[in-house]
Amino acid sequence: MENLDWKNLGFGYRDTDYNVRCYYRNGKWGELELSSSNQISMHMGATCLHYGQEAFEGLKAYRGKDGKIRVFRIKDNALRMQSSARGILMAELPVEKFEEAVFLAIRMNSHFVPPYESGASLYIRPLLIGTGPQIGVKPADEYLFIVFVMPVGPYFKAGFKPTDYVIYRQYDRAAPLGTGNIKVGGNYAASLVAGTRAHHEGYSAVLYLDAREKKYLDECGPANFFGIKGNAYITPKSDSILPSITNKSLQQLALDMGMTVEQRRIPVEELAEFSEAGACGTAAVLSPVRSVYDADVDKRYFYGDEPGPVSLKLYQKLINIQYGCEPDPHAWVSVVL
Ligand code: PLP
Ligand code: COI
Repeated sequence: MENLDWKNLGFGYRDTDYNVRCYYRNGKWGELELSSSNQISMHMGATCLHYGQEAFEGLKAYRGKDGKIRVFRIKDNALRMQSSARGILMAELPVEKFEEAVFLAIRMNSHFVPPYESGASLYIRPLLIGTGPQIGVKPADEYLFIVFVMPVGPYFKAGFKPTDYVIYRQYDRAAPLGTGNIKVGGNYAASLVAGTRAHHEGYSAVLYLDAREKKYLDECGPANFFGIKGNAYITPKSDSILPSITNKSLQQLALDMGMTVEQRRIPVEELAEFSEAGACGTAAVLSPVRSVYDADVDKRYFYGDEPGPVSLKLYQKLINIQYGCEPDPHAWVSVVL
């Protein structure tokens, strides 16, 4: 095992020993290749540099109490990367190749998978880019798929502590019929101004409204959003949000606990009716929302300085399954090593 301060990792880039690469040339994917370099060399006309042919994924591997290393819902990430590829006309990577590459990257860097006690995990970043040159706006003929990994702590510094979110109506991360439902770099570029302003003003992230009407909740910068009302888990339905695998999992866990699940349009004013709210995603896990400040109308919705009971229960159930501490009734985890 590496000698790192596992408990205080934070969510930042860190080199590990190996990454896995696979090239698409002449209409087909090649064999997986192992690399120990963090550099890539590519054509200056590559479409990823000019026309945004870039998609990525994020998933995690967890070391359990039993010492085994598990990944969570890897097939869903493979399928979502295919959906992203279709959305911006890139070559689709077969699911098996995606899984093989992720498994290999984990095994080759297994000493970077944090110890169980640290509560940290190994973040896995699959990346797909157009590497072939074009100067007209056209898809590339060549692609590169890379998987690199790094140990990480919580995305929001506070970890499982409620933090503050903000609504600003003057920014959108994605257009109503745009690319918000796929995981492409352009969405994140579009979120940088608002996200950086939110950080400067003391918020964890922006809670976006729907871009068409500015009436309904969409999602947080790097995570989906949910609210709890009575016995219901309520989460936005929108064509411009990323279908979060964590959110889908929390919905299932809520049903398993006897709650009801509503996936529907949520008017912004309904924020006043939730007893708890949360942001959810691979990096965010379940990050409780302390408050949402609607900056344009100067109104604050407050949920609490401590995580609510439903959020706590959902969080514990989710991480217990991810770390292999509880039965996995929906077959979400795969043992890697
Ligand atoms: N929404 C956005 C915009 C994201 O970047 C992410 C992170 O992947 C999520 C939601 C959460 O998705 P998941 O739970 O699949 O990680
Ligand atoms: C993730 O949760 O994996 C993400 O991709 C969110 C963020 C780091 C972009």
